Amino acid sequence: MQLGACYYPEQWPREMWDKDIQLMKEANFNVVRIGEFAWAKLEPEPGQYDFQWLDDAIGLLDQAGIKVILGTPTATPPKWLMDKFPDIYQRDKFDRVRGYGSRRHYCVNNPIYRELTKTIVQAVANRYGQDERIKAWQIDNEFGCQDTTYCYCEHCLDAFRTWLEQKYGTIDRLNEEWGTVFWSQTYRNWSELILPAYSVCDGADPEYHGHNPALVLDYKRFSSDAVVRYQQLQIDLVRELSTKPITHNLMGHFPEIDYYKLAEPLDFVSWDNYIDYPWDQPSYRKSAMAHDLMRGVKNQNFWVMEHQSGPCGWNVLADTPKPGQLRLWTYQSVAHGADGIVYFRFRAARFGAEQYWYGILDHDSVPRRRYREIQQTCAELTRLAPILEGAQVVADIAIVKSYDHLWSHTIHPHNRNFDYTRLLQAYYDAFSSQGYNVDLIGVKGDLSPYKVVVLPAFHLSDPSIKEWISKYVASGGHAVLTFRSGSRNWNNAMTGQTLPGDFRELCGVEVEEFDSLNYGRQVEVNINGGSAFASLWCDILKSIGATTLGTYSGEYYKGEAAITVNRFGQGQAYYIGCDLDEHAMPELMGSIAEMAGIQATPISVSDDGIEIVRKQKDGREFYVVLNHNGHGVNIKLDAQFVEVISENQLDGELTIDGYDIAILSPK
Ligand code: GAL
Repeated sequence: MQLGACYYPEQWPREMWDKDIQLMKEANFNVVRIGEFAWAKLEPEPGQYDFQWLDDAIGLLDQAGIKVILGTPTATPPKWLMDKFPDIYQRDKFDRVRGYGSRRHYCVNNPIYRELTKTIVQAVANRYGQDERIKAWQIDNEFGCQDTTYCYCEHCLDAFRTWLEQKYGTIDRLNEEWGTVFWSQTYRNWSELILPAYSVCDGADPEYHGHNPALVLDYKRFSSDAVVRYQQLQIDLVRELSTKPITHNLMGHFPEIDYYKLAEPLDFVSWDNYIDYPWDQPSYRKSAMAHDLMRGVKNQNFWVMEHQSGPCGWNVLADTPKPGQLRLWTYQSVAHGADGIVYFRFRAARFGAEQYWYGILDHDSVPRRRYREIQQTCAELTRLAPILEGAQVVADIAIVKSYDHLWSHTIHPHNRNFDYTRLLQAYYDAFSSQGYNVDLIGVKGDLSPYKVVVLPAFHLSDPSIKEWISKYVASGGHAVLTFRSGSRNWNNAMTGQTLPGDFRELCGVEVEEFDSLNYGRQVEVNINGGSAFASLWCDILKSIGATTLGTYSGEYYKGEAAITVNRFGQGQAYYIGCDLDEHAMPELMGSIAEMAGIQATPISVSDDGIEIVRKQKDGREFYVVLNHNGHGVNIKLDAQFVEVISENQLDGELTIDGYDIAILSPK
């Protein structure tokens, strides 16, 4: 198990380093991440490098048995560089320069910046490429962070035109696919093409309501590809000079970069896991799904490269983690597939934008409660590594998460309250709250390991996708499709087929009408005599072979089908025509899991706040039980277990304290 912290030796006097590293050693660390923002220290003057301080830090860490994840420092080009080449700054949709003062102030398509990137990356990789004290490389830092995925500079415009030409081949083809005849938007040649910058219908809204949705979707795809291409530039340089593994720190649910594509050339994925930070309400389920996505984008275990270690904030602070929570969250990460945990940060910064982003230590360096908790956690994890490290999550259920779908839904969300990620989370929670593990997988991923595959609001389709899902169901799979499925083609045009378009035959239904629900309106749905509520969307279904499982009990479509199931080959295709409230969803998904023959967990999860992750290593299964509640809970067990940490024998019941965890191995 790799355990450690993010450390910024360049931000602290040299006299402090020895004591810091001693504390790291005592905390049972074996790795630190350094260097990712240190360009100005590494190249203080153009072309003059100073590696002495970094050599010293790496040397001291090595003496303490601690290896280094070395970041390429391209997220923070120095001031001298920006003054010399101001063209590197991004431009926003209003053509304003996004100037100096924070970080990530560069455009990935800027040719000068690409050259300068080569120079600094080569310099660092040359120096440390063969150094055995380096464990791995981190490329840049959090691509897309600080709203930097989308840029509207002239280099982006040029690159976008080239990207489109490669995609469509001829301008006529592009015009046809985009339907530019609408509002006389026909382009005569590539040089007429635009970026979806400020236009008449847009106003100050960051989204693009007035632009052609096909153009916007392609711009989002292009912008994501541009980041992947920039990352590749760095990967190629590092690989030439080093055989060490390469990673990048992703951001969980971050929506703007296709993480399947970003992860592809990396040796392993890592990500930055902040559970309780000021810009979002904490939710252990959101973190759980983010972990599973981070595992899913490369279908392999991952690292947490920045793990919350204290109260977080920039200008304002979120809650301070309560005793036990840092340990609990660490175990949650490990349970979902983290083989490395690097806490952010070793000590809170005295200067800069993140003075309130507390680390393991406060500004005064005194080891207190958080240090002790992390120390204990790392000691435990080191002891348990033979069981936990490399263990696999066992999932019978997959949810398909697609960035193309996410982007298209963001451009035209159907209903003002619709949110693709929230819908995915609702399905995820419905299963995970009952103890079922879920994998997140990409479009055209391998469906064969799964008994149930859910494709929420899967509205973009094409013939190969139709074949992919149909084959899975025909050979015995259970697919769950929902409202809006099959309503668009892959280039974001509405389909001319009767909905659900490509999935009509598979689901054995036609969408006769639909109703977008606004201003708090709810429609009651009857499922097996039980009552449920839709509050976003209702597809009114006509069966062309499917069996009805639920009907609407209100509105002018009272009695019409809302939820259906259709036998297709050896399998079943469910069509869920509406959203469902948080009580109905788990019930319906539970019964679908049961119908698909998925074994229920032997650990009963009646209490909200209890999370169970089923794991496997070397042919042995075990369960990690996490209590996210502040209070203790008694859990009924339908099998006999040994609790691995305490070595207690459990017979029928597990008592688990607030914010505590247990690892149950079948007897
Ligand atoms: C991450 C980032 C770190 C630090 C941290 C706290 O997004 O990678 O460098 O900024 O958040 O804000």
